[in-house]
Amino acid sequence: MIREQYGLDRIIKLASNENPIGSSPKGIAAAKESYHDIQLYPDGGLMLRSKLAKLYEVKLDNVVVGNGSESILANIVRTFMCDDEEVLTVAGTFIGIYVAAWSRGVKLVAMPLKDFHYDLEAMADAITPKTKIIYLSNPNNPTGTYFTKREFEKFMTRVPTRTLVILDEAYCEYAQEFDDYPDSMTYRLDNVITLRTFSKAYGLASVRIGYGFAHEDLCRNVLKVKLPFEPSSIAQAAGAGALDDTEFLTFTQKTNHDGRLAMPKLYDELGLTYVPSAANFFMLPFDTEEKALKFSDDLERRGVIVRPLRGFMLPHCVRITIGTPEQNEFLAEALRDMCMARA
Ligand SMILES: Cc1ncc(COP(=O)(O)O)c(C=O)c1O
Repeated sequence: MIREQYGLDRIIKLASNENPIGSSPKGIAAAKESYHDIQLYPDGGLMLRSKLAKLYEVKLDNVVVGNGSESILANIVRTFMCDDEEVLTVAGTFIGIYVAAWSRGVKLVAMPLKDFHYDLEAMADAITPKTKIIYLSNPNNPTGTYFTKREFEKFMTRVPTRTLVILDEAYCEYAQEFDDYPDSMTYRLDNVITLRTFSKAYGLASVRIGYGFAHEDLCRNVLKVKLPFEPSSIAQAAGAGALDDTEFLTFTQKTNHDGRLAMPKLYDELGLTYVPSAANFFMLPFDTEEKALKFSDDLERRGVIVRPLRGFMLPHCVRITIGTPEQNEFLAEALRDMCMARA
């Protein structure tokens, strides 16, 4: 549609933080291999859970899988929230937690960000007896910022054991190079649920496959609530294959690392404000929502689709995924052209 509307030869999508390189070849091969059994119902996730348990050296009972990590997130909210309990998070994080809380009909307490970071001290102060779930995305989507090991450890000393902390690590593969990034698998606290996905660094967004780690009592209850045959055998096979694909993961991380170093130079050159990122995207704040929307629209007219962030409660901001070097160059040309048009 955009192609015809603006008469474009080429369009690139930098709007959903997908893997610009493509998908794990081992994941694709394993998915293809699984086709011969698709007349059968899947095993409810057992195959992939077993593989993850072995890889991360945890018990099978500590692993959940689902149709993307967003499905697991929604199931956690459905499993544990009572009507008068509350979800505590920030204004400026993954839209999926807002949708999950509101569709369950529970109150969502959204604290302000502090300089585009989670203010974990303020969040700890805001915990009440009604706070059932605290949602943290680290690195945070859409800001790209992260909280450190020290901040997380201090925060956890203030979270009561009756409160569940969802630690959404959808972008952890991109942040692990930072020494002070708290990889939740090194903690394994009884009231923390780790969520991860194959949609980003493994390039499997379309097959819908995500996973999580938690105390066995939490996993048992989430598994009771999820749809019995979720996730599909094809999705599980793709995920299991991708886990073996260290070559693809390393290449993805390297490409993103290079792009994450290169893009700030471009933004500086063009006088665009950006938030330093530990993920595979950058967030650009503007003075007003109108300016953010105009910026997105101007890029779209030049064939680059990016994400305005009203739904993420940051209406004056825009998020741009880091692409391949070639896509980044296409974006750079579009941005330079926009600047020239304005001058
Ligand atoms: C922080 C965060 N969590 C979860 C998801 C959803 O991932 P999945 O594709 O596994 O449902 C996303 C996707 O954008 C995300 O940014």
